[in-house]
Amino acid sequence: DIRSYLERIADDEKGHELDLFCVPRHYENDLDKVIIPHGLIMDRTERLARDIIQDMGGHHIVALCVLKGGYKFFADLLDYIKALNQNSDKSVPLTVDFIRVKSYCNDKSTNNVKVIGGDELSNLAGKDIVETGRTMQTLLSLLNECNPKMVKVASLLVKRTPRSSGYRPDYIGFEVPDAFLVGYALDYNEYFRDLSHICILNEQAREKYRV
Ligand code: IMP
Ligand code: MG
Repeated sequence: DIRSYLERIADDEKGHELDLFCVPRHYENDLDKVIIPHGLIMDRTERLARDIIQDMGGHHIVALCVLKGGYKFFADLLDYIKALNQNSDKSVPLTVDFIRVKSYCNDKSTNNVKVIGGDELSNLAGKDIVETGRTMQTLLSLLNECNPKMVKVASLLVKRTPRSSGYRPDYIGFEVPDAFLVGYALDYNEYFRDLSHICILNEQAREKYRV
């Protein structure tokens, strides 16, 4: 059951005051609250790695990173998978590949999903966030044209939104409220990827970084 894989962050989650954590000076006035501290992201990712290795049962994994927003999650997830591989009797051979997708402008999804790069079939795709699910569905139909043996999708976040197409990834880190989130490689017009925690942007910052 997919529910057992996910940690639900409630709509009325208050988050944590910014000054309880370390945040870059240049973003101090742009953020509202810390919603998922970096340490919690890491702890949840460690468990996802364990679930994935258990399910893969010795199959070779081609891990496909969906750039740019998925790069932190991908790197940390693979580090945990590597740690499991080198510290247990069972291990899963791993190769990596990278593609880039772009669909967002300001805080809105556009209908135009662009995909660049990638040269191998993929068994496991690592992604930042699923909102409507459109980006991932576009990507999956492209991957399926290569007839891979199996495709599994791990996404750190899934947004609870009425705009959802109903698509659910195989592995989910957290289910989050319908707010615009930044940090841990998630961006607002390319800003905030250099922020460790996942935070809510304030109104002022939406204007400040608007294009
Ligand atoms: P979807 O195609 O509607 O599922 O949108 C997924 C893509 O939109 C993600 O890969 C992100 O690039 C972007 N996105 C959606 N929600 C957020 C958010 O809260 N913060 C940052 N990027 C987001
Ligand atoms: Mg983006």
